[in-house]
Amino acid sequence: MNLLLAAAAVPLAAWLLYKARLRLQLSRAKHRSLRGHSRISRRLARLVPYYSYDEQQFFASDGADDAIVEQRRRGFRELAERLAAKAPKSIATTEQAAGGVSDLKFTGAYRVPFQYRAYATRHLGSAAFASETSGVRIRDLDGNWSYDLSGSYGVNLLGYDFYKRNITSAVTAADQLGPVLGPYHPVVADNVQRLKAISGLDEVSFHMSGTEAVMQAVRLARYHTRRSQAVLFCGAYHGWWDGVQPGVGNQRSVGDIYTLADMSERTLKVLDSRRDIACVLVNPLQALHPNAGASSDAMLIASDRSANFDKDAYADWLKKLRAVCTKRGIVLIFDEVFVGFRLGLGGAQAYFDVAADMVTYGKTLGGGLPVGALTGRRELMRRYREDRPTDICFARGTFNSHPYVMTAMNGFLEYAMREIGAAEAEDAVWNARREDLNNALSAAGLPVQAHNMSSVWMLTYTRPGRYNWMLQYYLRAEGLALSWVGTGRFIFSHNYSDEDFAAVRQRIVDAAERMRADGWWNGDPGLSNRGIRRQVLKEMLAVRFGRRPSAIIGPLSPAPEARGEA
Ligand SMILES: Cc1ncc(COP(=O)(O)O)c(C=O)c1O
Repeated sequence: MNLLLAAAAVPLAAWLLYKARLRLQLSRAKHRSLRGHSRISRRLARLVPYYSYDEQQFFASDGADDAIVEQRRRGFRELAERLAAKAPKSIATTEQAAGGVSDLKFTGAYRVPFQYRAYATRHLGSAAFASETSGVRIRDLDGNWSYDLSGSYGVNLLGYDFYKRNITSAVTAADQLGPVLGPYHPVVADNVQRLKAISGLDEVSFHMSGTEAVMQAVRLARYHTRRSQAVLFCGAYHGWWDGVQPGVGNQRSVGDIYTLADMSERTLKVLDSRRDIACVLVNPLQALHPNAGASSDAMLIASDRSANFDKDAYADWLKKLRAVCTKRGIVLIFDEVFVGFRLGLGGAQAYFDVAADMVTYGKTLGGGLPVGALTGRRELMRRYREDRPTDICFARGTFNSHPYVMTAMNGFLEYAMREIGAAEAEDAVWNARREDLNNALSAAGLPVQAHNMSSVWMLTYTRPGRYNWMLQYYLRAEGLALSWVGTGRFIFSHNYSDEDFAAVRQRIVDAAERMRADGWWNGDPGLSNRGIRRQVLKEMLAVRFGRRPSAIIGPLSPAPEARGEA
């Protein structure tokens, strides 16, 4: 009997050891940041209390002396007045609408770090309405034309005028059929041929958004591999489905996602040893900031945002990923909803010279109308099993293949296949422009630098500071239209001429000069990013444990002249 028990114990112990090793491997393959640890970040987010700086703290949170605080107060007041005088109608319409538009409430609140939010948003109005576009510019309700750096979340690749023309002819082309759903408009067949040629894959399904295309890809990968887990890389965005957002804000238990470190040998080891992984999702934009998201200005509590685009290193990483996925039967999905067509016609597959098993597209593919598309290898795209007729993977959507979207897509694809060349020439243009801007910023001694992956840009800050998020307001005042994430992402359309870009460069430099002149970068010279984070942590703990009131919002002080101090 004892012998029998002993004989059973040996394989059991070996199995337990094996499991423990796999678990340890998985833990070690997570990125060390909070983003890499979904569960912990969720719990911590629930513990972070709201608190707000009063007027004094708003201007002096970096230990600036009284003279600088006064300089900032004056600058802030002037900036607030400039913005208000420039766009009164646009700001009033935005404020009115914000009461009922949940999106606006959210983006309005998450423009600046929350400690500064109440004071900043109360005094610095923002305009979320526009009435016209022309070339690379956009006009607000007050008639101000700004250079558009928001890029309509990436949709605007070819310039708004292209999409306007394209939609007009798409409507004409689809009008005879009208908005019929079910039977396809004949143009669908051509779209499928074109997408197959572009992606090098066998089949296509159409959806209404990038989020849905991703949902479909992950679902099919699980269905065909009969495995539960999807691997995402730390910081990568794949749409708003909570199935690919395991971290903060997700109330569901997302036990079927592994968030692993990008560009890491440890991740490759996990992929090479586990048997439960169905697919790996890659958002190639992560090459610009591996393991970090597009950080909005609301996340800028210090100056430690960074970027590091190394095309060769990322290509090398994707090749290794490809090899391990092939070896282990894991579906490699490229999520090209954002970068598709922006990195040349062949997208990330051609740009990095790596073939995926499935590719999602969206945004600009719709030729100006909403869309998502999935392309994939034939055996992965099938929604049923020949040998198990009742085991189906049901996926349909009312508006999939909407005739007007399909004709707009056709216009886009037809143009793209004729006009969009290899990415190298485009890269050379955008890299030279980035150099040009960075030289101008350095020559002016400004603590700001630009980084890019083709026409997708972000700014980083070279000296520790607490007010970098203020730059978004100075940029807007100079006539640059940004999306709500502010300086964390600029998206240029490819119809920017050198003259257009020169105007943008000048405005960025002017905005940064003004911000410097108003003293926002003149805090305590001993400030470090670490010190800033420690200070913020201390504040949070003090509020959490009741040693500090949570919300103090002072009134905007009168102008120094009015106080007789000027
Ligand atoms: C890489 C990526 N995947 C998916 C999505 C979601 O697309 P949509 O907003 O159309 O749902 C986005 C949107 O930004 C994206 O950038």
